[in-house]
Amino acid sequence: MNSLLLHLLLGARAAEAAEGATFWMPPQASTTAADSDFVFYFIYWTCVVFFAIMMGAIGYFVLAYRQKSENDKVPLIKGSHALEIGWSLIPAVFMAAMFWMGLEVWIDLAVPPADSMEVRVTGQKWSWSYSYKHDGKIVKVAGVDADCMKKIADPTRDIECNAPLRVPAGQPVKLVMNSVDVLHSFYVPDFRVKKDVVPGRYTVLWFEAPEPGEHNVFCTEYCGDKHGYMYSKVIVMPQADFDAWLAGEASKVVDGPRPGKQIFAQEGCTGCHSIDGSAGVGPTLKGVYGKSEKLADGSSVQVDDNYLRESILVPGAKVVAGFAPTMPPFQGRLSDEEVSNLIDYIKTLGE
Ligand code: CUA
Repeated sequence: MNSLLLHLLLGARAAEAAEGATFWMPPQASTTAADSDFVFYFIYWTCVVFFAIMMGAIGYFVLAYRQKSENDKVPLIKGSHALEIGWSLIPAVFMAAMFWMGLEVWIDLAVPPADSMEVRVTGQKWSWSYSYKHDGKIVKVAGVDADCMKKIADPTRDIECNAPLRVPAGQPVKLVMNSVDVLHSFYVPDFRVKKDVVPGRYTVLWFEAPEPGEHNVFCTEYCGDKHGYMYSKVIVMPQADFDAWLAGEASKVVDGPRPGKQIFAQEGCTGCHSIDGSAGVGPTLKGVYGKSEKLADGSSVQVDDNYLRESILVPGAKVVAGFAPTMPPFQGRLSDEEVSNLIDYIKTLGE
């Protein structure tokens, strides 16, 4: 308890050895983290010092000027210009300093350096996916792989089951972010960066991590019942390792439409649809082809190619009974060939 109190009071000094980590803050793993923390601790210590001065003064006055007898009269004080000016000007100087330092760091964070490497980030209930450009190819790293949702149902799940964002060390990285469904927020505590990820618009966030390492990514905007699982990692790699990794991923990218199984994993379908018959946010796709499905309006539909196509492109059209119409439409996001490949894959998901 005593040491906790000490930590609370001396937060700025404690544990500074651990890469800039303090009682209130995780390690400083980006080039802007130290500036950001400086503003935080400036405000923190200003508050601590003024709190102590004011509470101390209140305590002192309560004791020193208490009524000592029935006839103890209060002296008539007509005010003091020096005091009035003092307690207006001194806080004003501190406020101006807070504003100025905050503005400087904010401007720094708002403008990505011109030589930034660009990565597209897509937020979706409930995963992140990352797209890189390499040699004219788009390299997309899926947020969640096919087996991941099984692990997510398991309380002993491992954070590694979400695909990480890989970036090179010592290189500014600019994330261009977008959501396909609801509001999410991309947050890397170790980098001191956070930005909302909004459907229908792009938001930008940048960072530069000087050293290789691993850092947590959280979604910090409540986005549905699996919001808490929407985590990922940033893996900062030496530039040469990153180049080798990206070239390797790019070599796997096939030109032309993606195979159905790949689309199923990369577009986040696994987040809601199981392929093993277990219940999810959406109906399982095991043995769905050829089946008769009961719809929310009481009618039935035979699951054929046309029904699957409609349900992928405009999921709200015929919703299966017992499920909420929460799937995002894929109209305009998948080519005709990709839709066909996806349907072919669903057909293989037998009984
Ligand atoms: Cu996405 Cu919370």
